[in-house]
Amino acid sequence: MSFAGKRYDFRDQAGDYARLAEELRGLLSGERDLVANAANTAALIYEALPDLNWAGFYFLKQGELVVGPFQGKPACVRIALGKGVCGTAAAQRKTIVVPDVNAFPGHIACDAASQSEIVVPLIVGQELLGVLDIDSPRLQRFDEGDARGIERLAALFVASVRSEDVG
Ligand code: SME
Repeated sequence: MSFAGKRYDFRDQAGDYARLAEELRGLLSGERDLVANAANTAALIYEALPDLNWAGFYFLKQGELVVGPFQGKPACVRIALGKGVCGTAAAQRKTIVVPDVNAFPGHIACDAASQSEIVVPLIVGQELLGVLDIDSPRLQRFDEGDARGIERLAALFVASVRSEDVG
Protein backbone atom coordinates (compact mmCIF):
# COMPACT_ATOMS: atom_id res chain seq x y z
CA MET A 1 0.00 0.00 0.00
CA SER A 2 1.34 3.43 -0.81
CA PHE A 3 -0.37 6.68 0.13
CA ALA A 4 1.54 9.72 -1.09
CA GLY A 5 0.21 13.07 0.15
CA LYS A 6 -2.17 15.37 -1.75
CA ARG A 7 -2.46 13.15 -4.79
CA TYR A 8 -5.65 14.90 -5.85
CA ASP A 9 -5.86 18.53 -6.94
CA PHE A 10 -9.68 18.52 -7.16
CA ARG A 11 -9.74 20.44 -10.42
CA ASP A 12 -12.05 17.57 -11.40
CA GLN A 13 -13.87 17.68 -8.08
CA ALA A 14 -16.50 14.99 -8.75
CA GLY A 15 -13.97 12.69 -10.39
CA ASP A 16 -11.43 13.09 -7.62
CA TYR A 17 -14.03 12.41 -4.91
CA ALA A 18 -15.10 9.30 -6.85
CA ARG A 19 -11.48 8.11 -7.02
CA LEU A 20 -10.94 8.89 -3.35
CA ALA A 21 -14.12 6.97 -2.49
CA GLU A 22 -12.78 3.94 -4.34
CA GLU A 23 -9.52 4.25 -2.45
CA LEU A 24 -11.37 4.44 0.87
CA ARG A 25 -13.54 1.46 -0.08
CA GLY A 26 -10.37 -0.57 -0.64
CA LEU A 27 -8.82 0.65 2.60
CA LEU A 28 -11.88 -0.35 4.67
CA SER A 29 -12.70 -3.59 2.90
CA GLY A 30 -12.53 -6.68 5.06
CA GLU A 31 -12.16 -4.72 8.31
CA ARG A 32 -15.02 -4.00 10.77
CA ASP A 33 -13.13 -2.47 13.69
CA LEU A 34 -14.53 0.99 14.45
CA VAL A 35 -11.32 2.61 15.70
CA ALA A 36 -9.16 1.11 12.95
CA ASN A 37 -11.54 2.23 10.20
CA ALA A 38 -12.05 5.70 11.72
CA ALA A 39 -8.29 6.17 12.03
CA ASN A 40 -7.62 5.17 8.44
CA THR A 41 -10.54 7.25 7.12
CA ALA A 42 -9.28 10.36 8.94
CA ALA A 43 -5.71 9.78 7.74
CA LEU A 44 -6.74 9.22 4.12
CA ILE A 45 -8.87 12.37 4.05
CA TYR A 46 -6.14 14.45 5.71
CA GLU A 47 -3.53 13.24 3.24
CA ALA A 48 -5.73 13.50 0.14
CA LEU A 49 -7.58 16.81 0.49
CA PRO A 50 -5.64 20.05 0.03
CA ASP A 51 -5.77 22.85 2.62
CA LEU A 52 -6.83 21.01 5.77
CA ASN A 53 -5.62 21.48 9.33
CA TRP A 54 -7.87 18.91 11.04
CA ALA A 55 -9.85 15.85 9.96
CA GLY A 56 -11.43 13.36 12.28
CA PHE A 57 -14.29 11.94 14.26
CA TYR A 58 -16.43 12.69 17.26
CA PHE A 59 -18.50 9.75 18.51
CA LEU A 60 -21.70 9.98 20.54
CA LYS A 61 -21.12 8.52 23.99
CA GLN A 62 -23.61 8.84 26.86
CA GLY A 63 -25.34 11.73 25.15
CA GLU A 64 -22.32 13.84 24.21
CA LEU A 65 -19.74 13.90 21.43
CA VAL A 66 -16.30 12.61 22.39
CA VAL A 67 -13.27 13.02 20.14
CA GLY A 68 -12.18 9.91 18.24
CA PRO A 69 -9.39 9.20 15.75
CA PHE A 70 -8.18 12.31 13.93
CA GLN A 71 -5.27 14.04 12.20
CA GLY A 72 -4.23 17.54 13.23
CA LYS A 73 -3.63 19.35 16.49
CA PRO A 74 -5.02 17.99 19.76
CA ALA A 75 -8.71 18.93 19.95
CA CYS A 76 -11.52 19.62 22.41
CA VAL A 77 -12.46 16.27 23.93
CA ARG A 78 -16.18 16.65 24.63
CA ILE A 79 -18.85 18.63 22.78
CA ALA A 80 -22.49 18.75 23.92
CA LEU A 81 -25.22 18.05 21.38
CA GLY A 82 -26.38 21.37 19.95
CA LYS A 83 -23.06 23.11 20.72
CA GLY A 84 -20.54 24.26 18.12
CA VAL A 85 -20.65 23.15 14.52
CA CYS A 86 -20.21 19.49 15.47
CA GLY A 87 -22.96 19.48 18.08
CA THR A 88 -25.30 21.36 15.75
CA ALA A 89 -24.75 18.96 12.83
CA ALA A 90 -25.25 16.03 15.22
CA ALA A 91 -28.46 17.46 16.72
CA GLN A 92 -29.91 18.38 13.33
CA ARG A 93 -28.56 15.22 11.68
CA LYS A 94 -27.56 17.21 8.65
CA THR A 95 -24.33 18.28 6.98
CA ILE A 96 -23.21 21.79 7.86
CA VAL A 97 -20.78 23.75 5.69
CA VAL A 98 -19.36 26.82 7.46
CA PRO A 99 -17.60 29.20 5.03
CA ASP A 100 -16.26 31.38 7.88
CA VAL A 101 -16.12 29.87 11.36
CA ASN A 102 -15.79 33.33 12.92
CA ALA A 103 -19.30 34.08 11.64
CA PHE A 104 -20.83 30.88 13.09
CA PRO A 105 -22.41 31.62 16.48
CA GLY A 106 -21.04 29.23 19.08
CA HIS A 107 -18.23 27.85 16.96
CA ILE A 108 -15.73 26.02 19.17
CA ALA A 109 -12.19 27.03 18.24
CA CYS A 110 -9.95 24.03 18.94
CA ASP A 111 -7.25 25.29 16.58
CA ALA A 112 -7.06 29.05 15.99
CA ALA A 113 -5.87 28.33 12.43
CA SER A 114 -9.30 26.99 11.40
CA GLN A 115 -11.19 29.38 9.14
CA SER A 116 -13.81 27.15 7.53
CA GLU A 117 -15.28 23.79 8.36
CA ILE A 118 -17.58 20.99 7.27
CA VAL A 119 -19.31 18.54 9.59
CA VAL A 120 -21.16 15.44 8.33
CA PRO A 121 -23.37 13.44 10.72
CA LEU A 122 -22.87 9.68 10.80
CA ILE A 123 -26.13 7.73 11.00
CA VAL A 124 -26.22 3.94 11.33
CA GLY A 125 -29.78 2.73 10.76
CA GLN A 126 -31.71 5.24 12.89
CA GLU A 127 -28.86 5.75 15.37
CA LEU A 128 -26.52 8.73 15.50
CA LEU A 129 -22.99 7.33 15.66
CA GLY A 130 -21.22 10.72 15.68
CA VAL A 131 -19.82 13.20 13.18
CA LEU A 132 -16.99 13.52 10.70
CA ASP A 133 -15.42 16.97 11.15
CA ILE A 134 -12.99 18.57 8.67
CA ASP A 135 -11.37 21.99 9.18
CA SER A 136 -9.42 24.25 6.84
CA PRO A 137 -7.13 27.23 7.43
CA ARG A 138 -8.65 28.76 4.25
CA LEU A 139 -11.94 30.70 4.21
CA GLN A 140 -14.71 29.13 2.09
CA ARG A 141 -12.69 25.95 1.58
CA PHE A 142 -15.77 23.69 1.25
CA ASP A 143 -18.60 24.01 -1.26
CA GLU A 144 -21.63 21.86 -2.08
CA GLY A 145 -19.49 19.56 -4.22
CA ASP A 146 -17.22 18.94 -1.24
CA ALA A 147 -20.29 18.30 0.92
CA ARG A 148 -21.58 15.61 -1.45
CA GLY A 149 -18.11 14.08 -1.87
CA ILE A 150 -17.39 13.98 1.86
CA GLU A 151 -20.88 12.58 2.58
CA ARG A 152 -20.01 9.76 0.21
CA LEU A 153 -16.79 9.07 2.14
CA ALA A 154 -18.72 9.22 5.43
CA ALA A 155 -21.26 6.71 4.06
CA LEU A 156 -18.46 4.28 3.21
CA PHE A 157 -17.12 4.58 6.75
CA VAL A 158 -20.61 4.06 8.23
CA ALA A 159 -21.13 0.98 6.06
CA SER A 160 -17.87 -0.46 7.38
CA VAL A 161 -18.73 -0.46 11.10
CA ARG A 162 -20.60 -3.02 13.18
CA SER A 163 -24.00 -1.91 14.44
CA GLU A 164 -23.13 -3.20 17.94
CA ASP A 165 -20.38 -0.57 18.15
CA VAL A 166 -22.99 2.20 17.92
CA GLY A 167 -24.25 3.96 21.06
N1 SME B 1 -14.92 23.57 15.53
C1 SME B 1 -15.69 22.47 16.04
C2 SME B 1 -15.01 21.83 17.23
C3 SME B 1 -14.17 20.67 16.86
S1 SME B 1 -12.68 21.12 16.23
O1 SME B 1 -12.80 21.97 15.10
C4 SME B 1 -11.73 19.81 15.95
C5 SME B 1 -17.09 22.92 16.45
O2 SME B 1 -17.38 24.10 16.50
O3 SME B 1 -17.89 22.05 16.72
